[in-house]
Amino acid sequence: MKLTLLVAALPAASTALPTWPWTKPHSKPLKYPGLDVLAKRAGLLYFGTAIDNVVLDNKQYISIARNRSEFGQVTPANGQKWMYIEPTQGVFNYTLGDQITVPATRAGQLKRCHNFVWHNQLPEWLTSANWTKPALVKVLENHIKHEARHYYNDCYAWDVVNEAFDDDAAASLRKDIWLDTIGAEYIELAFKFARKYTRPGTKLYYNDYAIESVNNKSSKVAAMVKDFKKRGVPIDGVGLQAHYTVGRAPSYDAQMAAHKLFSRLGVETALTELDVRLQLPDNSTAQALQAQVYADSTKACLDADDCVGVTVWDFWDPVSWVPDTFPGYGNADIWDANFTKKPAYYAISDLLRSYD
Ligand SMILES: *[C@@H]1O[C@H](CO)[C@@H](O)[C@H](O)[C@H]1NC(C)=O
Ligand SMILES: *[C@@H]1O[C@H](CO)[C@@H](O)[C@H](O)[C@H]1NC(C)=O
Ligand SMILES: *[C@@H]1O[C@H](CO)[C@@H](O)[C@H](O)[C@H]1NC(C)=O
Ligand SMILES: *[C@@H]1O[C@H](CO)[C@@H](O)[C@H](O)[C@H]1NC(C)=O
Ligand SMILES: *[C@@H]1O[C@H](CO)[C@@H](O)[C@H](O)[C@H]1NC(C)=O
Ligand SMILES: *[C@@H]1O[C@H](CO)[C@@H](O)[C@H](O)[C@H]1NC(C)=O
Repeated sequence: MKLTLLVAALPAASTALPTWPWTKPHSKPLKYPGLDVLAKRAGLLYFGTAIDNVVLDNKQYISIARNRSEFGQVTPANGQKWMYIEPTQGVFNYTLGDQITVPATRAGQLKRCHNFVWHNQLPEWLTSANWTKPALVKVLENHIKHEARHYYNDCYAWDVVNEAFDDDAAASLRKDIWLDTIGAEYIELAFKFARKYTRPGTKLYYNDYAIESVNNKSSKVAAMVKDFKKRGVPIDGVGLQAHYTVGRAPSYDAQMAAHKLFSRLGVETALTELDVRLQLPDNSTAQALQAQVYADSTKACLDADDCVGVTVWDFWDPVSWVPDTFPGYGNADIWDANFTKKPAYYAISDLLRSYD
């Protein structure tokens, strides 16, 4: 009788997904604590990783990606981007996003959802048409509405707008379909739609690169945040992507100053896409320098007042975006091609331990 009841209860228990912001506590004591265990002990909310859809059939990769001891948070690297989610206007396909988020929820990992609005990876129906401003605002709202509702119980945070500022010296707003058609207002509209359709309490982030020190770009982002706060436009966080290069990464002090620039405006920060590329061929000196950059960046997050966590932009060298985008560079991650933990892994682990 007892057995029957147990068996009957199992399917319901395993199919019903827990709801936001659920995360399993770590059992303790753990003999070999992973990065998330150590990050939580050090006071962060998570240590996380991005995961792409292309490696989901690699068992060794998955066993690390879903190991909650290592990663307490998962970010879909591509699966939630516009071209995959709304490939035809008004037709939504959540397959690639769900492939990342559903197992993460089962594993008790938080999710940072990524992203609603970006200039890149847009579907052709969107980029090839001539929109009027009101029509494009409707497209924007409809997209955010559907995607936010689908992932309603999933997201600790959403990257609402990604990379709106350009790379020119003055860090102007990037000229793209959003700015050209709607004007600068598209940014606040996206945040307002995100607040309207996401679960109350979801952290709404602005996310960008090259804002990890105080410079023209981060100052422009800070001015925008300040303006949003003053006018009541909803924003909760700034994501510092932290795509670094050995020899050119901002120092610990520079990163601390960047965290402070944002946190004093009343938003949280996070390192959202941390990786540290190096010139190929690799050598042990370069790996040691890479380890130092990972450790310094993690330390700045730990020491900053409102930095909630660190996400690496994948953990396994062979799936990094770096070699395709920066020819001659690579090995930017913390596990090598043979799934061996690199000096960077141990540098982060040792640093986190020192805060325990
Ligand atoms: C998860 O990671 C921890 C820390 O590295 C390790 O001790 C543990 O064996 C891993 N668990 C599995 C199931 O691989
Ligand atoms: C949804 O996306 C998946 C993954 O790209 C694809 O295999 C599937 O055919 C799509 N579904 C529809 C109805 O287009
Ligand atoms: C959009 O406008 C441009 C310039 O007016 C025109 O050349 C193009 O054919 C239009 N495209 C569409 C899809 O209507
Ligand atoms: C910062 O922007 C100003 C113009 O707003 C420009 O004069 C200056 O050269 C920029 N600084 C850098 C380091 O690019
Ligand atoms: C190791 O790599 C670094 C950085 O790419 C390079 O500057 C250095 O010359 C290399 N050292 C050796 C011994 O190859
Ligand atoms: C992986 O292991 C193979 C076989 O031992 C070795 O030849 C190769 O250099 C290793 N790759 C890395 C990145 O360490």
